[in-house]
Amino acid sequence: MCKIINLDINGYNYKLPVVSGTFYEKAINISKLRENTGLITFDPGLKNTGLSKSSISFIDGEKGILLYRGYPIEQIINKCSFVETSYLLLNGELPNSKQLESFSNQIKEFHYMNQEIYQIFDKIPDFYHPMGILSSFTCILTAFIKNKYLKEQDMYLHLLAKLPILAALTYRKKVGLPPSHVDKNLSYTSNILKMFFSFPKKYYETNPIITDALDKLLILHADHEQNCSTTTVRLLSSAHAGLFSSVSAGISALWGRLHGGANQAVIEMLENILKSGGNIQKWIEKAKNKKDPFRLMGFGHRIYKNFDPRARIIKKVAQKIISQLDMDNPILKLANELEEVAIQDSYFKEKKLYPNIDFYSGIIYQAIGIPKDMFTVMFALGRLPGWMAHWKEMRLNRDPIGRPRQIYIGYKKRNIVECVDEGI
Ligand code: CMC
Repeated sequence: MCKIINLDINGYNYKLPVVSGTFYEKAINISKLRENTGLITFDPGLKNTGLSKSSISFIDGEKGILLYRGYPIEQIINKCSFVETSYLLLNGELPNSKQLESFSNQIKEFHYMNQEIYQIFDKIPDFYHPMGILSSFTCILTAFIKNKYLKEQDMYLHLLAKLPILAALTYRKKVGLPPSHVDKNLSYTSNILKMFFSFPKKYYETNPIITDALDKLLILHADHEQNCSTTTVRLLSSAHAGLFSSVSAGISALWGRLHGGANQAVIEMLENILKSGGNIQKWIEKAKNKKDPFRLMGFGHRIYKNFDPRARIIKKVAQKIISQLDMDNPILKLANELEEVAIQDSYFKEKKLYPNIDFYSGIIYQAIGIPKDMFTVMFALGRLPGWMAHWKEMRLNRDPIGRPRQIYIGYKKRNIVECVDEGI
């Protein structure tokens, strides 16, 4: 393809440079378009806008490809741990064994929480949503970091260590358990499970089946290029906002039901289908009815138009954990049936709507014992290294502050009319 695109507007010719990526993605650089032509581009939902150059992850939505720093997700899931994946996303290369050991030990050094945080935690009303807690406390953490001039690497380690503690505290407060601390001999993911589920004065025995399933879920969520929450983090980074507040904003964006919140919505939907008698076709028709706001949750994706490779892996993980734990799970059975019916339906075929990562993830969280309103918190724990890598990349790229334009459709200029008080 040529390196210049000719654009003819009202008899004038403009030459717009083409930006190319590693693969076939090409973009027309329109950064001077308004300056030269008076026109801006209009792209609600940023569906066709390249916000930045990035080397963190790559998606081919048509072919169902996802690469982290060049490595296919199918290889990462079988050969790497979540901590290795985090190192890869943050540093660009997989760690050797020494680097991995040092990185894991460094995270453990930050596995503590200030007493004041526990005190503030006690004051939170029980009905506050766990995602609100996670987002707020990610910001609050900065108030209790004694060294105000943290090294950049230490900020990443702090968050990798502290977010699971915040998540576990939220769960334990809900179920009336006191905080549980990490065990330096356990892996990162085993420690998450210990901090959630251990009982006071009882030895916590790790379950490798559960640890493996959770580690895989964290890896699958670790990055997904310019999704809504990551774009939020990048925008904050472009304004030179701090890492903690940028991640806090990313958590808030992820909370939305069309984004990370979909994993909770999927299980609620499947439970509703079961409760109402399990008539799948009725719910499919409901999702297709344009007058009904209901959508088949866990279906569809902005980028994947063939299949979501993460969903394929997650489905297998869900089937494995349910059979290994010898659970009779009517929700998994229903999910399988619903998927079968939906993918054969002409509406879903035509619109290229396939199960996404959230369709099966809730089933695994439920099997692990995570309550529904904390599913998206687990997603956030997984997405954390991706957010941090994008925050870092944005700073290194020296991209300008994000500031889109708009098409104003409000009133023309008008004057305030003095109100004459007519009295009685
Ligand atoms: N059920 C029924 N119809 C759907 C669905 C669905 N799940 N998803 C999309 N459509 C229809 C939509 O109504 C529209 O139809 P029409 O062209 O006739 O107006 C068409 O498909 C295109 O939908 P869109 O909303 O314009 O597509 P999008 O790329 O803007 O949205 C999406 C992608 C994921 C928000 C959407 O598919 C959706 O709402 N899915 C359900 C929520 C969900 O599972 N979200 C998790 C996404 S994956 C994890 C993550 O990113 O956090």
